Amino acid sequence: MIELLRRFGGKFRRYMVIGPACKLIEVIFDLLTPLVIAQMIDKGIGAHDVNAVIHYGMVLGAMAVIGISFTLVCQKMAALTSQGMGTDIRGALYQHINKLSYAELDRFGTPSLITRITNDVNQVQLAVALGVRMLIRWPFLAVGSMCAALAIDLKLGMIFLICTPAIGLVFWFVMARCIPYYKQLQAKLDRIALICREGLSGARVVRAFVREGHERERFAQAADDQANTAIAVGKLSSVLNPVTFLVMNLGVCAILWVGGIQVNAGELTQGQVMAFVNYMTQTLTSIVYVANLVVVFTKASASASRINEVLNCVPSITDEDNEPVALPQAPATDIDAPVSALSFDHASFSFGVGAANAVSDVTLELPLCKTLGIIGGTGSGKSTLVSLIPRLYDAGTGSVSVMGSDVRAWPLEQLRRVVATVPQRASLVSGTIRSNLTWRDESATDEELWTALDMAQASEFVHNKPQGLDAPVEAGGKNFSGGQRQRLTIARALVGTPQVLIMDDSASALDFKTDAALRHAIRERSVRGAAEGGLPLTTVIVSQRVSTVRDADMICVLDHGSVAGLGTHDELYTTCQLYREICQSQLRREELEGQQGSAMPAPAPGAPAAPASTCAKEGC
Ligand SMILES: Nc1ncnc2c1ncn2[C@@H]1O[C@H](COP(=O)(O)OP(=O)(O)O)[C@@H](O)[C@H]1O
Ligand SMILES: [Mg+2]
Repeated sequence: MIELLRRFGGKFRRYMVIGPACKLIEVIFDLLTPLVIAQMIDKGIGAHDVNAVIHYGMVLGAMAVIGISFTLVCQKMAALTSQGMGTDIRGALYQHINKLSYAELDRFGTPSLITRITNDVNQVQLAVALGVRMLIRWPFLAVGSMCAALAIDLKLGMIFLICTPAIGLVFWFVMARCIPYYKQLQAKLDRIALICREGLSGARVVRAFVREGHERERFAQAADDQANTAIAVGKLSSVLNPVTFLVMNLGVCAILWVGGIQVNAGELTQGQVMAFVNYMTQTLTSIVYVANLVVVFTKASASASRINEVLNCVPSITDEDNEPVALPQAPATDIDAPVSALSFDHASFSFGVGAANAVSDVTLELPLCKTLGIIGGTGSGKSTLVSLIPRLYDAGTGSVSVMGSDVRAWPLEQLRRVVATVPQRASLVSGTIRSNLTWRDESATDEELWTALDMAQASEFVHNKPQGLDAPVEAGGKNFSGGQRQRLTIARALVGTPQVLIMDDSASALDFKTDAALRHAIRERSVRGAAEGGLPLTTVIVSQRVSTVRDADMICVLDHGSVAGLGTHDELYTTCQLYREICQSQLRREELEGQQGSAMPAPAPGAPAAPASTCAKEGC
């Protein structure tokens, strides 16, 4: 909490001084009030002097008005500080989360980050508001009331000295047991958020698999778990109020009893006894409020450490001081020179310390303008491998280079502008088709957008929308079919002239004909772009379908993160057992027969040297 105050409180220091100072003045009036009431009783009511009653009544009224005025100023300061700090913390968190790499985001998890940015910031905000308003008030009122009471009469003050520690002790006992529960409550809230998010975002799948009952059960368990902890805290703290009021009222009885005897003996006035009773209630109520403050601050401190954990997390992927990389402009004449667009040099990656490698010792080189197909079973590391290219993750060992430069030497923005990725899960955000397409280039013209849509085989259904490019897109693109969403995300990647296009299983929802037309359009663009002296396009196509990758210039067969085979379709079919098995399970008999009869095509004279087919799979 202190760390957050140090980081974000500076701007509000003035408010944090003015607010409590105003509160202090209000407390002083509160402390004086019982004394004025005592005077009113003794000099007015006791002496049957109406003028004195009116006089002290007016003094009380004036004190109340002044007190309220200072309170209002304090409230305003508290609101400005807490809301301002809340906004700043939320903004800083959001910005920082955007700088974190996938590895850090995986570690925290999206639901936890959402809870931190909402619930945890709210807790801190509440604590700051209460801090400005109450941190001075209740302790000062408790101590002040006690001192004032002792100043009136030491003998009666003994009752105070017994009651106050008694209540303090009860509070200490209860709070010490409650505080660990408060910390657990936050973690349990995270779990509820996680289940909620999974259940709601996957509502269709849940229904399709008739898993509603299971999901409800899972949610109920998490909610019950949180509720049980909250009930345990509630039970513990439920003893506080009755005990406080019991002690307080016993104390008041004792004061009235002993005080009554002293009044009869002429040692005290009635007004002084009343003042005593007031101070007693003020002190004990203050202790209750101080305990509430302890609860709020405990929760806030748990929240603050969760916020600091995110803010202090250093992004593992940075690009400080990286100079822009000069890009090769490949005119038609130079295409034959095998400029390396993409290369992996013994690249390995694992998702956690001690976890098995998701990508293991991958070495390959793809010349400019060529197409790399990556094929392999589910979980074979295809997505992980391609995510090393735009530096969504950094290779643990080995290196990845784009256009001959190590990706770690690129400015991240330039790298991600040059490398366009179509993720496996098509993600669109609410807005319009245009606002979704212009992510990579906000100034893209309508013509560029339509060209991209044409290539992505999406122009037809966009044309059919009455508003065309301005047709609305709902959150997550749920007003489009899976295939349409995929085509729109492909079009988005094609806007802004990328030089490396990565399609991670992003044509899986397209029918074979559309998939083929899409690949043809991309190849056309690649060849035409290069022939016209424009920016050459190198493509990486990840797929589980042989038909999608078979025409690629180079195919990489992945198996458990390792390269099981590398070469063209024909080469791999004859040399790589795993690839042949995949082909046999997917291609029609005629296609396979044609395959078996086909001779290995000789490379065209002058064509970039196709890498010699290699196969790491035993028996290949
Ligand atoms: N965010 C992640 N955290 C931990 N493990 C992961 C993560 N993403 C993928 N993996 C693991 O890495 C392996 C490769 O996954 P992935 O690259 O997505 O496979 P593919 O795209 O070939 O289906 C799998 O075993 C998967 O369980
Ligand atoms: Mg994948």
